[in-house]
Amino acid sequence: MTDNGDNPTGGTEFRHVPVMRDEVVSVLSEVPDGLVVDATLGGAGHASALLAANDGLSILGLDQDEQALSAAGARLAPHGDRATLRHTRFDGLADEVRALGHSRLSGALFDLGVSSPQLDHADRGFSFRNDGPLDMRMDRSRGRTAAELVNTIDEGSLIGILRRNSDERQAPRIAKAIVANRPFASTAELADVVRDAVPAAVRRKGGHPARKTFQALRIEINDELDILENAIQQALDLLAPKGRCAVLSYHSGEDRIVKRLFRDAAGEAPRLRPELPLPPGSEPSVRLLWRGAQRPSDAEVERNPRAEAARFRAVEKLTEVA
Ligand SMILES: C[S@@+](CC[C@H](N)C(=O)[O-])C[C@H]1O[C@@H](n2cnc3c(N)ncnc32)[C@H](O)[C@@H]1O
Repeated sequence: MTDNGDNPTGGTEFRHVPVMRDEVVSVLSEVPDGLVVDATLGGAGHASALLAANDGLSILGLDQDEQALSAAGARLAPHGDRATLRHTRFDGLADEVRALGHSRLSGALFDLGVSSPQLDHADRGFSFRNDGPLDMRMDRSRGRTAAELVNTIDEGSLIGILRRNSDERQAPRIAKAIVANRPFASTAELADVVRDAVPAAVRRKGGHPARKTFQALRIEINDELDILENAIQQALDLLAPKGRCAVLSYHSGEDRIVKRLFRDAAGEAPRLRPELPLPPGSEPSVRLLWRGAQRPSDAEVERNPRAEAARFRAVEKLTEVA
């Protein structure tokens, strides 16, 4: 296996192709020497490419999935003590940085969502295509499973989850069918009920009719949106002058949060009275490295269809923060 990040990691066990790898490395290698947090280490495809690109950097890699950490540990071993790995949710970012003896970060990367092995390994229970136990926990050492959630939640709350986490238009029909057909133990049982619940016209449109339901449940089980804002804010607060924070998101709920946080930190939030000075405390602390979100190239999407939904945003800490 080479270290160029294009190869899947961990042989047959952990295959994840890092999305927009060259763009991420180019943004995060132009930072002051020091520590970069990879808050979603996965198989360390981005992290290993970044360490190879800039020998002034070391990496603190966080992941709540122990399988990912074990694959990442093997991949980063050649970099010795330039890589430190921690099993934690990314809202523990600031504590982990300080525990390592650092008070500033040169960079931070959030490559959100699931890794390919989480989707591909049926036993993880994320997949509507491969039958497995209805689990969906990234951290299998704690928390409720997706089965526990769907088997106990009331219909109204389920509709809320489907709408909030994946803009599912068929939320009322799907929630009603789930409540009427439970208990569920496997992903296939759930996928079949969702498929049968949606109108035939929707079934005929592209994509699996259970895709959004599975996405919404996964986000709920792993608290994906609730802790995101807090974690990115921790990273922004810790950035050294000219340090950079880069985020890859894969659905509109995530991207909305990232866009708003970056816009606010850059002092670019829409203002009712733009002619007035900014109120104290709301002066910009970062600059947007580009406007809008970058997207993967057509060639990358062709090579790796899972890159298709990616939206890439990044900011740089100002040298003079008011
Ligand atoms: C898209 S993958 C990252 C892939 C990685 N960039 C690579 O190149 O291999 C996302 C990873 O983030 C982890 N993850 C997602 N949410 C997390 C959270 N709140 N805290 C810690 N890890 C998280 C997942 O377990 C998964 O391994």
